[in-house]
Amino acid sequence: MIVISKVKELEEAVEAFRHEGKSVGLVPTMGALHEGHLSLVKRCREENGVVVVSVFVNPTQFNNKEDLRTYPRTEEADKALLAKAGCDIVFMPTVEEVYPEPDTRVFDLGKVAEVMEGAMRPGHFNGVAQIVSKLFMMVKPDRAYFGEKDFQQIAVIRQMVKSEGFKLQIVPCPIVREADGLAKSSRNVRLSPEARSIAPNIYRILCESVDYAKSHSVAETTQFVTDGINSYPEMEVEYYQIVDGLSLMPVADWNDSDYIVGCVTVYCGGVRLIDNIAYKK
Ligand code: PAJ
Repeated sequence: MIVISKVKELEEAVEAFRHEGKSVGLVPTMGALHEGHLSLVKRCREENGVVVVSVFVNPTQFNNKEDLRTYPRTEEADKALLAKAGCDIVFMPTVEEVYPEPDTRVFDLGKVAEVMEGAMRPGHFNGVAQIVSKLFMMVKPDRAYFGEKDFQQIAVIRQMVKSEGFKLQIVPCPIVREADGLAKSSRNVRLSPEARSIAPNIYRILCESVDYAKSHSVAETTQFVTDGINSYPEMEVEYYQIVDGLSLMPVADWNDSDYIVGCVTVYCGGVRLIDNIAYKK
């Protein structure tokens, strides 16, 4: 595995592999790697001749300085995990290397970036589009891998790919969970033992709501999830929205779409957790 911190070296290394006729897969991450990230690397390994993983805590997508400052950083452990997972090139640049000048680009991300996370975290998705588009320009991957845990992020990146005219395939990968159902996340280490023990109820309630939805309306199911999670004093739902899986527009009726997903954000003991579940797929 080659560890690279300079853009020019990354471009040359990828080009050398491409010259050998190898297809290129990219997995963008912010490090503090866990099995969720590694499932993307594994899938990328299966489908490509060369696997590039970026590890970069992208400042432009954080709208909370404290969140950026305290974001977990475990570079040495990340390198060891990536080497074991069959990564060929890991790109670990500094902020100055990626942003020699401030990135002032404003992307046309459409309505998918305005709802849910887009409404709660202004500028977040524009920052994601900035870094992901830079990575796409540097690596020119044939395929790029993203987790469905950040469900809206995939829709936003698809929109960015369309508006910027990138020629590559976006590959969505299923959510990897802890044994008790909690979606794996780099931020889970921030949960207190008490919050950690309550957090799995988010997914339990989401799963129960799939059954509940069979005999109740979208509005009733939304209420079911919100009330269920809020019944724990340590947890507070920021939003629960049942949306079309592609447009991310809210659905009013189960017959409105063939692909329906419920997306939730919960403050659990002060830590912001996100999760989602499919009602129709
Ligand atoms: P990060 O949170 O590090 O996640 C990197 C990738 O891993 C994302 O595509 C995310 O959806 C996926 N992932 C995280 N937890 C997962 C889980 N439990 N199961 C499956 N996939 C999971 O998302 C970002 O970084 C950044 O926004 C990034 C795209 C790298 C741009 O900076």
